[in-house]
Amino acid sequence: MADLHVIDHPIVVSNLTEMRDGATPSSLFRKRLRTITHFLAYEATEDLPIAYKEVETPVTTTALPVLSDMPISIVSILRAGIGMVDGMLDVLPDAGVGFIGMKRDEETLKPNEYYVNLPVDIAKSKVFVVDPMLATGGSAIDAIAKVKAAGATDITMICLLAAPQGVEAMADVYPEIDIYTAALDETLNEKGYIVPGLGDAGDRIFNNL
Ligand code: PRP
Ligand code: URA
Repeated sequence: MADLHVIDHPIVVSNLTEMRDGATPSSLFRKRLRTITHFLAYEATEDLPIAYKEVETPVTTTALPVLSDMPISIVSILRAGIGMVDGMLDVLPDAGVGFIGMKRDEETLKPNEYYVNLPVDIAKSKVFVVDPMLATGGSAIDAIAKVKAAGATDITMICLLAAPQGVEAMADVYPEIDIYTAALDETLNEKGYIVPGLGDAGDRIFNNL
């Protein structure tokens, strides 16, 4: 069974409070999201494989740990996932980056896919799928289906906020996929928004709303 990791570090929760505040402008919202993404990435990469290489320090030569050459891919669910890409790349600078465009229908809350572009070595990669919001879970579930169809088997979901409904839906479809989030919120409202949430993440990142 997959694990839900809620990263409620003091730096994370205080940055998240600023993001939830509707008066926070997009410029600051993006900065806080980048900072929180560092912490989520740090936790989600804890088990990355290590290799050893000989390094000449100024004092001696010794075998020291480096990341193994296993490929890593970050897959961003558009639009809002773009807000997490730079934070992920700060931690994983050699990762490939893919994009899956998903837009929820406002009436049915079902996602419509409009773009897919995945790294060439995705099948061999450790994959981190990023999207700030896991609401009903529909967008993440469909995006992960694309990643799996491309051959990936080692997949982790990273989001900023999760609703219980989205976590449950993910666990039903992908019981093997761990989820990392900064908070598990209370519920969804009648429009499918996470409560207390932060509003429309894409608009908060890009539209100064
Ligand atoms: C938002 C969000 C997720 C999705 C979550 O995107 O970024 O992708 O909703 O909802 P779900 O879990 O119920 O599927 P949206 O569809 O609004 O598109 P956008 O990022 O372009 O604004
Ligand atoms: N998508 C968002 O951007 N916000 C929510 O609260 C739910 C889905």
